[in-house]
Amino acid sequence: MKKTLILLIGALAFISCKESKKEIATTMPQHKNEVVEAIKNRRSIRAYKPEQIDQAQLDTIIDCGINAPSALNKQTWEVRVIQNADLLKRINDSFVEKAKGKDLKGSASRSQEPGFSVFHGSPTLIIVGREKNNPTSLVDCGLLAQNILLSAESMNIGTCTIGNMASILNDPDAKEFLKEINMPDTHEVAFGISIGYKNESPEAKPRDASKVQYIK
Ligand SMILES: Cc1cc2nc3c(=O)[nH]c(=O)nc-3n(C[C@H](O)[C@H](O)[C@H](O)COP(=O)(O)O)c2cc1C
Repeated sequence: MKKTLILLIGALAFISCKESKKEIATTMPQHKNEVVEAIKNRRSIRAYKPEQIDQAQLDTIIDCGINAPSALNKQTWEVRVIQNADLLKRINDSFVEKAKGKDLKGSASRSQEPGFSVFHGSPTLIIVGREKNNPTSLVDCGLLAQNILLSAESMNIGTCTIGNMASILNDPDAKEFLKEINMPDTHEVAFGISIGYKNESPEAKPRDASKVQYIK
């Protein structure tokens, strides 16, 4: 009887220890440093202040982006940093036009509302181009993007990845836009990144730690 009780208590202690570890993994970093803090504090920002971000900060962020790893160090991305208000407006107008009558998900579902911006009105929009015939290019671009997102967060600058950018700019009738931003024919748009000073502080979205398994 005593043995069974000890075993039961042991099993309960093991289960509760496992559970609390799972929670720690999702909510609270066990090792705190600036990188971990930037990762845990980053959120997709969908409201920006109109003022342009400081050029030196932007240069550092872009430099962090291109210091990302890439397969065979081929750096297959093309990066365009757009701050031209007229071009930004035309890109957004083009999205709104194409979205008419479509059942789009997320923030794009509000595309026909007045004042809608597919890149959430950020004063700067980064367009990331991927090499069309290179299967690892999208991974290269994703790693570049995460460096941009995290270095921006470390300066309290907001960002949001904009996958919707690909659908607008890779459309055959958007060739003129691609020409205007010097995107070579070898590349297509992977996604955009809106970037600017934050005008909101959203809560963290939940993460599913059960997708991670340790095999020891
Ligand atoms: C490939 C990709 C495409 C995305 N496209 C959009 C988009 O078009 N518009 C948008 O508002 N958010 C977009 N997001 C942001 C996601 O909605 C966001 O990362 C996710 O909801 C998790 O929230 P968090 O970034 O605040 O942690 C995109 C994210 C990724 C990784």
